Amino acid sequence: MSGKKPIFLLIHFLIRFLFQHADSKFHDQEQAVLLRLKQHWQNPLSLEHWTPSNTSHCTWPEVVCTNNYITQLILDNKNISGTIPPFLSHLKNLTFLNFYNNNIVGKIPVALYNLSKLEILDLSQNCVVGTIPDGIDRLARLSCLKLHANNLSGDIPAAIGRIPELRTLYLNDNLFNGTFPPEIGNLSKLEQLYMARNGFLPSKLPSNFTQLKKLKMLWIAGANLIGEIPQMIGEMVALEHLNLSENELTGNIPGSLFMLMNLRLLYLYINKLSGEIPQVVEALNLTFVDLSQNNLTGTIPVDFGKLDKLSGLNLFFNQLSGEIPESIGRLPALKFFSVFSNNLSGSIPPDLGRYSALETFEVASNRLTGNLPEYLCHGGSLRGVVAFDNKLGGELPKSLENCSRLRTVRILNNAFFGNIPVGLWTASNLQQLMISDNSFTGELPNEVSTSLLRLEMSNNRFSGSITIEGDSWRNLVVFNASNNLFTGAIPQELTTLRNLTVLLLDKNQLNGELPSDIMSWKSLNILNLSQNQLSGQIPEKFGFLPGLVTLDLSDNQFSGKIPPQLGSLRLPFLNLSSNHLMGQIPTEYENVAYATSFLNNPGLCTRRSSLYLKVCNSRPQKPSKTSTQFLALILSSLIAAFLFASLFAFITIRVHRKINHILDPEWKFIHFHMLNFTESDIFSGLKERNLIGSGGSGQVYRVAANGFGSVAVKRISNHRNSDQKLEKEFLAEIEILGTLRHLNIVKLLCCISNDNSKLLVYEYMENHSLDQWLHSEKKAKGSSASMNHVALDWSKRLQIAVGAAQGLCYLHHDCSPPIVHRDVKSSNILLDSHFNAKIADFGLARMLVKQGELATVSAVAGSLGYMAPGKAANYGDEDTCLAKWAWRHMQEEKPIVDVLDEEIKEPCCVDEMGVVFKLGVFCTSILPSERPNMKEILQILLGRNPRWVCGRKNMRHAEHASTPLLNSSKSERLAESDGSLASCNG
Ligand SMILES: *[C@@H]1O[C@H](CO)[C@@H](O)[C@H](O)[C@H]1NC(C)=O
Ligand SMILES: *[C@@H]1O[C@H](CO)[C@@H](O)[C@H](O)[C@H]1NC(C)=O
Repeated sequence: MSGKKPIFLLIHFLIRFLFQHADSKFHDQEQAVLLRLKQHWQNPLSLEHWTPSNTSHCTWPEVVCTNNYITQLILDNKNISGTIPPFLSHLKNLTFLNFYNNNIVGKIPVALYNLSKLEILDLSQNCVVGTIPDGIDRLARLSCLKLHANNLSGDIPAAIGRIPELRTLYLNDNLFNGTFPPEIGNLSKLEQLYMARNGFLPSKLPSNFTQLKKLKMLWIAGANLIGEIPQMIGEMVALEHLNLSENELTGNIPGSLFMLMNLRLLYLYINKLSGEIPQVVEALNLTFVDLSQNNLTGTIPVDFGKLDKLSGLNLFFNQLSGEIPESIGRLPALKFFSVFSNNLSGSIPPDLGRYSALETFEVASNRLTGNLPEYLCHGGSLRGVVAFDNKLGGELPKSLENCSRLRTVRILNNAFFGNIPVGLWTASNLQQLMISDNSFTGELPNEVSTSLLRLEMSNNRFSGSITIEGDSWRNLVVFNASNNLFTGAIPQELTTLRNLTVLLLDKNQLNGELPSDIMSWKSLNILNLSQNQLSGQIPEKFGFLPGLVTLDLSDNQFSGKIPPQLGSLRLPFLNLSSNHLMGQIPTEYENVAYATSFLNNPGLCTRRSSLYLKVCNSRPQKPSKTSTQFLALILSSLIAAFLFASLFAFITIRVHRKINHILDPEWKFIHFHMLNFTESDIFSGLKERNLIGSGGSGQVYRVAANGFGSVAVKRISNHRNSDQKLEKEFLAEIEILGTLRHLNIVKLLCCISNDNSKLLVYEYMENHSLDQWLHSEKKAKGSSASMNHVALDWSKRLQIAVGAAQGLCYLHHDCSPPIVHRDVKSSNILLDSHFNAKIADFGLARMLVKQGELATVSAVAGSLGYMAPGKAANYGDEDTCLAKWAWRHMQEEKPIVDVLDEEIKEPCCVDEMGVVFKLGVFCTSILPSERPNMKEILQILLGRNPRWVCGRKNMRHAEHASTPLLNSSKSERLAESDGSLASCNG
């Protein structure tokens, strides 16, 4: 026995050796593929541990082997940049390939289809371009295909319908611009189908899709669907989530939809659906129904009252009529209820809020009557009551007291009466209390919520004095108490609110003198105290309110002189009419623009007869001066007459010194900042030698201005008489811009205009505009600017990009309403002495010059401005658009390093430059929806989002065009719909 054993063992080892040898040959080959992959991607840090060694690659965390063959390659979130190389297909035994969330660029290689054992393929959240190549059905075992959040385009091939095992198919958030095949309806095992947010050619929802009996998730929002929802949709019995929102669907909502017992989410918002909502509802598992922003008519189904799991019901912006079923008020899970902007009538279900933790209640703009439900805040979760524009009445419910999460109460324009419950004033999170246009009575409370930002209570019957004690009012921004019965004086305390921008106390019975010491109205823009019985002098301190734009003190008993300091404000709107003011009006207002500002003050006078005021008879003053003034007056009217008669001539003659000290009444002045210089300083500076630039829209002069060093004056001439509407728009725009205050927006100091010519006076920027720095070589060789060209190194360029982005971000996201620049380009980005970027010229010139004359505005203007640093790149062909060229460069998968300007290329920053380059390319996508928004851009530029890959990241999913009044229902529905995007559990 013992003699045979060694031989047996020997044979055993020999056999094992031979097999192992074959095995290890394969094994080495597979490792070589991995190492080649690593090299192909330029050795990403995340794969540092992939090194040739004796230990098997099967131990690497990204690799899973079965019998020593690689079967899974899990490379999600690895910061891999580059293409998928065809040699990847040498890993023949792969069943699971995951590239989720990297920087994969280029096309899907056809060689990938050689991986015939592949069951899961995940390329999502990358920058893959091109089409899905033909022959995808060669991946016959595929059960999960995730291609979402890339830049794929073209058609979705019909072959996709011939992958019989497919359970999960994610194609959403790409640039598909062709068609999708009805053959998808043949995928009998399909459970999840996501095709949302693509630019498909307008297509119907194929009736084939209703054969998908296993489909749980159907998500084709924002995909250009037209036509009707197939009646047979009720046959998709497994359906749990249906999202067809943001399409152009027409026709009725099929009744069978509300019979689907598994249906939980139903989103059909923003379509053109019409007719009635099906009245029979058996889909008792529904948790969220959103049919908002359609053309639905008829009544809200009583059966909705059976939906015990319903947490959200959005029906706003439709034409629904009739009453809100009472049973809805008793739904135990209801949190979000939005039915505003319909024709609903009758009373609101009295139990609403009693049996559920109601968070939003939005019933505004209907014809509802009766009271607000007594128990609205019973659950303590209520965040908003939005019920304006109805016929509601009665007193406010007591449950609104001590409603600690309440932020917004907007019940304007109803017939409410009685007092505001004490506890509502002080609700700890209350930010907006808007109760105007009702019949409320009572007095202002001593204390309000310190969160309160906006108090609008005009057109009620509040009375008593305006008492503001303690500092609970300190955060107030808007206070509108017009047209009430308030009495007493305006208290000093009111002038201590440092955030106040709007104060309207007109049409009350206030009396006494104004507080002479205004403590901190630094931010006040609008002050209206008209139609009271206020008396005494206008306080001098008014002249020192830097932000004041509108001042209305008309219809009071003010007396004495107008403080001359008020003149320096040059308020765009001023009304001091119907008082007892005396003396000469400030010279700055001696202008027809203020013709109605001083009416009905018998004691006021002016030196100019053109105003509707008597001419000052200033004999007691200096008689010698009178004659010169009189002379000047005649002279000026003569000039005016002359100019009027020869308008055309006037335009061609340079604005001249002759109008140095007496300005033609046709000139209007609008000032936005405290200025020490005068118009004549500006006019006298418009000389040839001060010219610093000229272009299609006008000339720019550098003018020395008292107190400001220099200012830049942009002169825009429109050579035809601009029509009235254009003129008005221009002035309206000017007023908005004059009030903008941001570090990265050039200050518009004032505007001087008449019918033919506009002078925009800006702060002067030492370093001129960005384009002069970027393109100076081409323009003027040898000029000082070109010498400085190199001085604009990468860090400065990035700083400029960040600054410009901050300015635009402010305009887009922080301004209300948002402001769109329309013409961002490097010549409109100015640089101060420290190279801080300031955005200038808000398309004002473009508004003026008529469309046909826009010849000089480059076709690639617009969003190219974001790309300033991207212009670090060399130019491609002289004539092709830079954005197109850059896009093509990326599509051709050429390394970004190649395009960086050698002069500024610094080894440290090549990655950073690459990110900005890509950002620039995405910012100039042809489809606006593909472009990141300014907030995202800023985050990326600030390096706070280095993992940014494409224009389409998950965060963009959070956007939704509809804006419920409280912005909450939206987050609710998105939370639910994104939950299912997580994994491939087919
Ligand atoms: C891997 O592929 C090879 C050749 O294609 C095959 O012989 C082997 O059985 C496969 N191994 C596994 C575990 O599937
Ligand atoms: C779809 O997009 C691609 C890539 O942007 C483009 O080349 C193609 O012409 C587009 N096709 C259609 C039908 O618009």
